[in-house]
Amino acid sequence: MHLGTTLTQFIMEEQRRVPGATGEFSALINDIATACKMISNGVNHGGLLGVLGAAGATNVQGEEQKKMDVISNEIFLKRNEWAGHLAAMASEEMDEVYQIPAGNPRGKYLLLFDPLDGSSNIDVNVSVGSIFSILRCPGESKTEGPTPVRAFLQPGTQQVCAGYALYGPSTMLMLTTGQGVNGFTLDPNVGEFVLTHERMTIPADTNEFAINMSNYRFWETPVRRYVDECIQGKQGPRGRDFNMRWVASMVAEVHRILTRGGVFMYPMDEKLRDKGGKLRLMYEANPMSFIVEQAGGAATTGRGRILDLQPAGIHQRVPVVLGSRNEVERITGYHLETQAAA
Ligand code: AHG
Ligand code: MN
Ligand code: MN
Repeated sequence: MHLGTTLTQFIMEEQRRVPGATGEFSALINDIATACKMISNGVNHGGLLGVLGAAGATNVQGEEQKKMDVISNEIFLKRNEWAGHLAAMASEEMDEVYQIPAGNPRGKYLLLFDPLDGSSNIDVNVSVGSIFSILRCPGESKTEGPTPVRAFLQPGTQQVCAGYALYGPSTMLMLTTGQGVNGFTLDPNVGEFVLTHERMTIPADTNEFAINMSNYRFWETPVRRYVDECIQGKQGPRGRDFNMRWVASMVAEVHRILTRGGVFMYPMDEKLRDKGGKLRLMYEANPMSFIVEQAGGAATTGRGRILDLQPAGIHQRVPVVLGSRNEVERITGYHLETQAAA
């Protein structure tokens, strides 16, 4: 019988290799994993628990909240506010920074999350996920008064850890601390995540792209050019056929890309221009870019590396192009060519 490595064991063994590590980080990952298990349980039971459907409110982004968006947000907060590892949290579902309740100990990390990604899929029983990003809280904000927004505004290169949970046919947790990407599958009978996908790598080339084609008429020229060339297949300039996927859940798309390669785009378009893009930099684009880069892929806005962006706000949006390196470089190249010609 193969007993495997649990997530807790994996994190603690990694921690032992870091001189002076206090164990705080390992404990934080454990609490996040517990939150993901609880969300997984809610998602799995769906209609049986009465958690499907709309919550009847909109979030800070002006998007309709699902019941499960609100529940998942509560779960993340409750699992992470008590242990003393965090100075504050920020979430897609909350306008303001979430301060650690008075009386609870505070710690050195900041946690940002999208508690339920792809939530338009929840009512139709299609994969959803949770995305999170961990930053170090700059010194002065740890104990003195409320943690200010500016403590969070660090480029993605500063992330200590990023991960996502995928609630699909099986529940998985993918994690990077900057030493590659490892994947764990939840054994629901035991309630533990077990290491199943070691050191995941994204092939540099792919024949698969993912984009919401219904936005074609709003796209910029370089994105139209790229997709047009893919669709022309063997007869076109690429000389080979491409396949397309669109789950409408970034977690599921990134997971597919980690597993077999591909390119995912939510690019700038005319109707998104005022907002800056569709996806949120700090709890969608940055953690996913960190994971993708750690697996050997690339992630850009079409114009430059996502992880280098200096955030201006916790809910900032950005265009996203990520996945197999050679395709991402090609798409970025098309953007730069268009820019140079203008
Ligand atoms: P969220 O459910 O957290 O709001 O995120 C949904 C995001 C992303 O996961 C997905 O790729 C994209 O929005 C789907 O957009 P379309 O509805 O345009 O397909
Ligand atoms: Mn999302
Ligand atoms: Mn969400």
